[in-house]
Amino acid sequence: MQQTIIQIKEKFDLIENLPTLSVITTRLLELLKKPSVSMNEISKLMEHDLSITAKVLRVANSPYYGFRQRIDTLKMALVVLGVNETSNIILGFSMFDSFNKSEANAHFDINKFWEHSAITAYISQYFGKKLGIRFHGEEFTAGLMHDIGKLITAQYFPSEINNIFNFFNNNDVELYEAEERTFGITHMQMGFWLANKWKLPQQLSDVIFFHHHSEKAKTNKILVAVVSLSDSFAKLFDSNQENKENVLKLIYKSSAWNILEPYLIKFEVVEFIKELETNVDSVKEFLATLTDS
Ligand SMILES: [Fe+2]
Ligand SMILES: [Fe+2]
Repeated sequence: MQQTIIQIKEKFDLIENLPTLSVITTRLLELLKKPSVSMNEISKLMEHDLSITAKVLRVANSPYYGFRQRIDTLKMALVVLGVNETSNIILGFSMFDSFNKSEANAHFDINKFWEHSAITAYISQYFGKKLGIRFHGEEFTAGLMHDIGKLITAQYFPSEINNIFNFFNNNDVELYEAEERTFGITHMQMGFWLANKWKLPQQLSDVIFFHHHSEKAKTNKILVAVVSLSDSFAKLFDSNQENKENVLKLIYKSSAWNILEPYLIKFEVVEFIKELETNVDSVKEFLATLTDS
């Protein structure tokens, strides 16, 4: 018998070993609430975390930014990328680290999960820039975290995830529809509960909650729509590559496409996908930055 949302929420609240945020993430979230953060505050915070710093530097040196000069230090990244952009990228990596130890499940391939998340993060940056929308790294973090609810379901509701995937593999539905039908809770809802528990910024929880229904977002609608379409583009690069035509069809009729209409006047989808394809190696390289410790 399907559980009610209230029952599942009670179970969620009772999970004892839910990943906790690191000291760096908690402090960073506090800093990001302030109207402005100084370079010194971020440098000091990151002083002892060489692993995250190294990842940030690899992103800063990725072809996406296209800087001629190598960015070798966090200070330099803060100057060149700006404090907000750098802080948001740090936030993405530090949250990622909280989950990196998650265990595999027969039905849920954690490597594929992070591969999809990282590609979405990369495309969100690229796509935002292409449309001329000025984000400050929040599109990267949101892309990386958009599906985080899937990980919670896979880890803490293992028998439910089996049912979800059985249904998903035998029916022509989106994963969230399979979740709705068999479990009663989507990964967006699950991720939203986590976002609340972790007191994540509104922009992140909006993307987590609305990325399959951009039209329902009341705030941060543009960000939600950009990540939502990047999520669809990312499907073209998933290891179990989906049919290009199908993905394109879904993109054109999505509410996210509608919302971004004013920005899409000069946008050529096919050309954009070609560009992404030629960058696929750097996307892969970028993925390696995530899984390296
Ligand atoms: Fe999703
Ligand atoms: Fe996704």
